This record gives sequence, C-alpha cells and structure tokens, in this order.
Amino acid sequence: MCGIVGYCGNKPASGILLEGLRRLEYRGYDSAGICVGTDTGLKVIKKTGKIRDLKAIVPEESFGHNGIGHTRWATHGGVTDENAHPHTDCSGKISVVHNGIIENYNQLKDKLLAKGHVFKSETDTEVIAHLVEDIYTGNLTQAVRETVKHLKGTYGIVVMHYDNPNLLVGARNGSPLILGVSDNEMFVASDVNAMISYTKQVVYLEDGEIISITPDGFEISDFHEKNISRPINEVDWEFESFEKGNFEHFMLKEIFEQKESVMRGMAGRLNINLATGHLGGLNMTNSELLNIERVIIVAAGTSFHAGLVASYLLESLARIPASAELASELRYRNPIIQKNALYFVVSQSGETADTLFALRELKRKGAKVLGICNVVGSTIARETDGGVYIHSGPEIAVASTKAFTSQLVALYIFTLLMARMKDMSFEAGSEFAKQMFSLPDIMDKALSKADEIKKLAKKYNFARSFLFLGRGINYPVAMEGALKLKEISYIHAEGFSAAEIKHGPIALINEVTPSLFLVPDDRLREKVISNMKEVKARKGKVIAIAVEGDKEVAQIADDIITVPHVSEFIYPFVMIIPLQLFAYYMAIELGRDVDQPRNLAKSVTVE
Ligand code: AGP
Ligand code: GLU
Repeated sequence: MCGIVGYCGNKPASGILLEGLRRLEYRGYDSAGICVGTDTGLKVIKKTGKIRDLKAIVPEESFGHNGIGHTRWATHGGVTDENAHPHTDCSGKISVVHNGIIENYNQLKDKLLAKGHVFKSETDTEVIAHLVEDIYTGNLTQAVRETVKHLKGTYGIVVMHYDNPNLLVGARNGSPLILGVSDNEMFVASDVNAMISYTKQVVYLEDGEIISITPDGFEISDFHEKNISRPINEVDWEFESFEKGNFEHFMLKEIFEQKESVMRGMAGRLNINLATGHLGGLNMTNSELLNIERVIIVAAGTSFHAGLVASYLLESLARIPASAELASELRYRNPIIQKNALYFVVSQSGETADTLFALRELKRKGAKVLGICNVVGSTIARETDGGVYIHSGPEIAVASTKAFTSQLVALYIFTLLMARMKDMSFEAGSEFAKQMFSLPDIMDKALSKADEIKKLAKKYNFARSFLFLGRGINYPVAMEGALKLKEISYIHAEGFSAAEIKHGPIALINEVTPSLFLVPDDRLREKVISNMKEVKARKGKVIAIAVEGDKEVAQIADDIITVPHVSEFIYPFVMIIPLQLFAYYMAIELGRDVDQPRNLAKSVTVE
C-alpha cells in the first residue's frame, strides 16, 4: 500500500527522495522516512505525519548521492516514528523499505532474537534488515536473494548497505517495483509517479525477481540466480497531470477533468462507419467474441460499481448474461468457470491485491480473463490475456472519480461491439455512438451545477447518515455515491435500490437521515417517485438528482439538482457527477483531508 522510492546517481539524494515521496503520498500517508548513504554511515530520518513534516527535519544541504524513501500505510505496529521505514539492522549498515506484509515475520523474528538480534520496531518489515545482516558476506544482491527465500507474504523491497555505496537491491513478490533509467542515475519506485519528472524510461519488475541497481546500469535475475533481460519501456503520461493546477484538491481536478478523460478513453475506439466499437487489445477475433455466452466482471470498490453498471448494459443491449462480482469474494468461493464465459478484471491501479489474486485464481482454473486498467504496465494489465487501457491519466485522489467514468466508457464500447454483432441495428449503433460522443457536453452541463451542490452540502452538513437510492442501471451509481460520501467525509451512507428500502432500510428514515434519490426520466421514474413519497410520508428529507424541467419531482423533493435529459443508458455518466461533487463539498464543509482520507490508501496491495 505504501510508496517506495530509491535513487542512486550523482545528485543530492535527499531532495529527490522527498520529491518522489511527495508524489507517492497518496499511496499511504501515516508516516514517512528516508535513508541516505553518507561518507560516515547511513543516515536515517523518519517521522509520523505527512511528507511536509518529514521535509521539515531533513537538512537542506546535500549529504549523500544514494538512498531510499518510504511513505507508510501501517499494517503491523502502530503509527510511530520507530515503526516508520526505513528499518535498519543491528549494525546500522543495512537499511530496508518495504511495501506489503511479511506473514511469517513472527517465526523469523523469534529465530533472529535467539541469535542475538536487537529489534527497534514492532513492524514485520524489520526482520528483513536483520535477515540480510545475518546472511550477508559481502555480496548484497546474493544476500537479498537468500533472504527472500525465507519470506512468506507480499513484498516490494529495496535494500541498501553502507559498504556498497552505489548499489540498491530490490525484490518483488506481489507488490509493484519499477526501475527508472536515466543518464548516470537510476530510480526505483513502487509507481512511476515518483520518478516521472526525471525520466520516462522504465523497466517493470515481475514477481520473483531481484534487481541490482547502480548509477550506470541494472541487472535483473530471479530468486534462483537466472539472469533476465527486460526491455526499457517509455511511459506516456505527462508530467503536468501529476499536479493540481488551479484546483484546491486533486479530487476536484479529477472530477472536472472527466469531460476530457472520457474522450481519451474513446479516441479511435468508436467506428462511425460501421456503428461499432473497436478495441484492439482484446486479443480476440470476432468469432471468438461471438461465442461468448456470459460476461463476469470482477473488481473491488468503485471499479466494482462500474462493473455492475456495465452488467445492466451488457444484458440489455448485447443480450449476454452478465454479472459483476467482488474480487475478494470470488477468489475464495471456488468459482465455477463456465465454458465460453469471458471474465473482465477491472482495476484503476492494476495492483489491487484482491483483484489480482482473483485474476490468478481464474486463470489457474483456465478462464479467459481480460483486464480494464488505467495504470499502464501494472501487474493486472500484464497478467491478463488482453484488455483495454482506460487512459484516464494518473488518478491521484484516493477517492476514485474519473477512473469510474472511464471504466464505463471502455465497458460501454465493449457492449456496443458485442451488441452490433448480435441484434443491434446499424441505426441503433450509430445513435449509441453519437451519444457517447456527446458525453463531454452533457458531463459539462452536470459539472456546471457545482455551486448549487456546494450550497446543498452547507445545508445538509448536519446529517450523520444518508441513504442513496436509485433503480436499474442507476442503482450501482447510488452505491458509488454512497461510497464516495463515506470515504472522504466519514459520514455514514448506504446505497440501495429505491425499491428495496421498504424491505428494511426505511426504518432508518427520520428528520435527520436524508435520502438522495436518482430520478432519471426512464421507465422506472414513476416507481422511484412513489418511493420518494414513501420517504416524505415518514418525514424524511429528500434530495433528488432529476432531469431538467421535471416539475413533479421538484414539488416532492426538498431539494433538487438537475442534470440534462439523456437516453436511458447514458444516465450513469451524468448522475454520478452531482454525487461526486456532493461528497467533495461535504468533506470540505466538515474540514476533512479530501485527497488523503483517514485509514485509506490509493492502491490496496494487501488482502
Ligand atoms: C475508490 O474511491 C476507493 N478508494 C476504492 O474503493 C477503489 O476503487 C478500490 O480499492 C479498487 O481500486 P482499483 O480500481 O485500483 O482496483
Ligand atoms: N507491513 C509494513 C508495515 O506495517 C509495510 C506497510 C506498507 O506497505 O506501508 O510497516
């Protein structure tokens, strides 16, 4: 979950490490630290709090040209200065940063304690430093290789040793590690953000590999000493997209960016002449696609909600049975792999452990699995049989917004492709493509309501619990709206089918538990209006997200935010925007840390 960065070259390391950590802070942010090799020993500086707190105690002048840094999301041991990484061995010559969990650390620690090692922290990570110390006889790469053979669990680690001033050694098993290549200097990090301002030349490390890095070269080998050659890739993300620009928070920037990010995901993928979708990376022929009898979308959190929306669309338009599954549940359920079923794993980061492990389980069982990812070169993207990059650009805010709409774009284009091979007419396909092209305009209209939503947040910031209610394809949108609100404002919120409240949740309704209804002008509108009336009859406050000019809803609801009229299946794209903005402004009202909400991290690389 954490961020790792390492540098070796000829520039002062501390500034580069701190800047890298600043860019990785969204991956984990309870404490941070750096270790730099100096002429007289390794200098470790670490502290609880944000990167700016660490920066305040790091000397400005240069004190070394190689080092490692870490921003933590604690799993083992409280959030304290001692538990912050890097961790050192007894001699203070070996230093380690680690992303993940060492599951057998207790057994290892007992053995090391018996041998006389002295531990300074409560973390699982510290055993790595002592194990390397125990094994080291002059060759750090070899010592790390021997060490990882003892480790069970998930890890991305980078190790340095005072006696090898220009060497960093990394290893990965389940947590990402990427090398950044530049002239006479090298970077290593848990994601490209950390080094994007220095180099776009990257090398992805695979699970079960070790990398030795010096300022002028790198060597990759596996845990059994087999050398591996790996090409250097070029990252195409722009430097600017890692900055907030004129926005106060990354989340707000990313919400507003959606009108462009959906376009990026569509570019070259809608064929107007044939009124169909074109997705080059699926690695499947049309006849293979035609044989698909079921689609199962597997994901977590927001990506799961995008999958649920798409399951409604696929069934309705492509007439293929479709469902969405929580990756964490699917993995342990011993799933039955149907012949001719196609699985999609959807993940913004491409590193989510639950989704990754579900993918591996599905593949082990022989399933055909495609990926829908944002981060190019991420583990899920590389391990799937093919797939689609959503191209929404780096998403920095922990609360996912633009990735959701871009995931929808990819899944909508896939649906069009399938629907056109089945029953959908050329005219209907053209109309669908036309509506997709109109997304930036209609999303812009929804975004123009930001000030009204800000006022709404002021009015409702008293509430400690909300119900989000929608039907059909907008039911998962209601779930996503509730997730947004709870994760960044810490207000309890649940998303339900509006029809389901009478089966239980309506018991929660009172003057201080508002309900937020999604009311598109679709075939379920009348039913949703009845549900709204049921809530009003019980003195519940009703906020409606409804269509421009809907006077009936305006009369019933206490407050209404309108969105443009669009066709039935396009509503998720416009309904989600007011919900994202509502969560954002509620969090601002309540003084929350919008981009880095408590207890969360952007990339969940532990189970
Ligand atoms: C979204 O706002 C959440 N922070 C979280 O639910 C997230 O969507 C989930 O962890 C899945 O992440 P992924 O898309 O990177 O796999
Ligand atoms: N398990 C380690 C710890 O608790 C690493 C956590 C992380 O990935 O940030 O320190």
